[in-house]
Amino acid sequence: MAELPNISFSKPSAPKKGIAVIFVDDTLALGATGSELDAATDGAITRAMKVAEFKGASMASLDIVAPAGVKVDRIAVVGMGKIAELAEYDWLRLGGAAMGAVSAGKAEHASFHLERADGEAVTAEQASDVAIGAKLRGYNFDKYKTPKKGEEKSKAKPKAAKVAVCVESHAAAADLWKTQEEVADGAILARNLVNEPANVLGTEEFAKKAKELEKLGVEVEILGEKEMAKLGMNALLGVARGSARPPKLAIMQWKGGKAKEQPVAFVGKGVVFDTGGISIKPAAGMEDMKGDMGGAAAVTGLMHALAGRKAKVNAIGVIGLVENMPDADAQRPGDIVTAMSGRTIEVINTDAEGRLVLADALWYTQDRFKPAFMINLATLTGAIIIALGHHHAGLFSNNDELSARLTEAGLATGEKVWRMPIGPEYEKLIEAKFADIKNTGGRPAGSITAAQFLQHFVNDLPWAHLDVAGTAMGSPESEISKGWASGFGVRLLDRLVRNHYED
Ligand code: BES
Ligand code: MN
Ligand code: ZN
Repeated sequence: MAELPNISFSKPSAPKKGIAVIFVDDTLALGATGSELDAATDGAITRAMKVAEFKGASMASLDIVAPAGVKVDRIAVVGMGKIAELAEYDWLRLGGAAMGAVSAGKAEHASFHLERADGEAVTAEQASDVAIGAKLRGYNFDKYKTPKKGEEKSKAKPKAAKVAVCVESHAAAADLWKTQEEVADGAILARNLVNEPANVLGTEEFAKKAKELEKLGVEVEILGEKEMAKLGMNALLGVARGSARPPKLAIMQWKGGKAKEQPVAFVGKGVVFDTGGISIKPAAGMEDMKGDMGGAAAVTGLMHALAGRKAKVNAIGVIGLVENMPDADAQRPGDIVTAMSGRTIEVINTDAEGRLVLADALWYTQDRFKPAFMINLATLTGAIIIALGHHHAGLFSNNDELSARLTEAGLATGEKVWRMPIGPEYEKLIEAKFADIKNTGGRPAGSITAAQFLQHFVNDLPWAHLDVAGTAMGSPESEISKGWASGFGVRLLDRLVRNHYED
């Protein structure tokens, strides 16, 4: 795998090798280093911008190869647009755009000359945000690609790029980066988990990954089939019946808060592969269902982030790991299971399996930990992609304050959520003929009835459900992601915790 970039911070100075990235606003005014380089190259930068009709638009970039008069091989110009209008997330995007220029040039050394054309100082926060964007953009999942014939191994696997962010506030930025890099690493962990194919990452392998968080001081327990049967988790266990892989429930605890402080809890759907079971899915696109553990991946990545940066919070992460397969022993449509809460569920469609897994994971979490709130993440419904596409996760909640906080954290981090309704009107749709509730409500309001179903298992705790079917996997390319697995949820929930639940 192409290694992730190695990022450091230093004071502004003339670039010496590799690629220099300079920034320009939409009036084409350059920062100090940019102006110096322009002078040293006899105006090559200004000329190149003119010839290419480069307008300094936000996130646009221009690559200039080997200008005479400087020591670097290339200069990349990245547009900042209207500097005064840059929002927090835009600084990540700038870092991503700059890293894009580094990767395109296959440069091993890069310096980002982080200066504003208006002479205002770039803050340490902004510099650290640029580094987050660069690191996330530098992520590739190419570990299964063998080098093409004739291509040297070293060429196909370039070394980690060394990126120096040159900024006045370098010392403070480096300090911030120590914690922020842990958050970026949490998102990268989530991406890796989502990208791994299901033959490599089954339930046991995923549980092992969760267990590895012990290195960071997270307490991790793994429950197996027997323990879960004892607890009465028949909704979760029913899903796992068709698979040769054993179900696992991973419970992660990060105790960074005060001893008696009530924890916050995050619960993830971890279906390592979703064939649909006996209600089998069509073949086209089924390969994407290796990502049906995107919720669990985000929870695992979040626990990495919180522990890595030693967040002052008590946080619980619970992930239900199963595989949904058809088999002689698989669950059937019409089967009735009794969840841990005691509620009976008629399984109308074995492909609506995520809510069955979460029913027991949510109930277990509130019952054991009595958290201040529960937030679950799940690639739960195709319908949320029809409703919101790939740019917002669906937010369903019984709590306005929690919803507002999530919405705000989403705007700050660029991991946006959009609140959808739930309510008693939708209950009728999941009333069952033969049990307390059924696991599907038909086509209308498909994402809402799924959320409505989950609400039966939260015991009136403040709760939010994030339907990440369109955002955690199959996500579009952006400045900070090459697409598909985005790591959605890690930065969002880390921010929620940082803003509201740390003392
Ligand atoms: N894992 C799928 C949802 C999904 C679809 C995630 C597309 C990502 C991309 C989920 O288990 C599922 O199959 N949901 C069904 C529910 C239906 C049977 C009520 C769906 O969305 O079709
Ligand atoms: Mn399904
Ligand atoms: Zn699923």
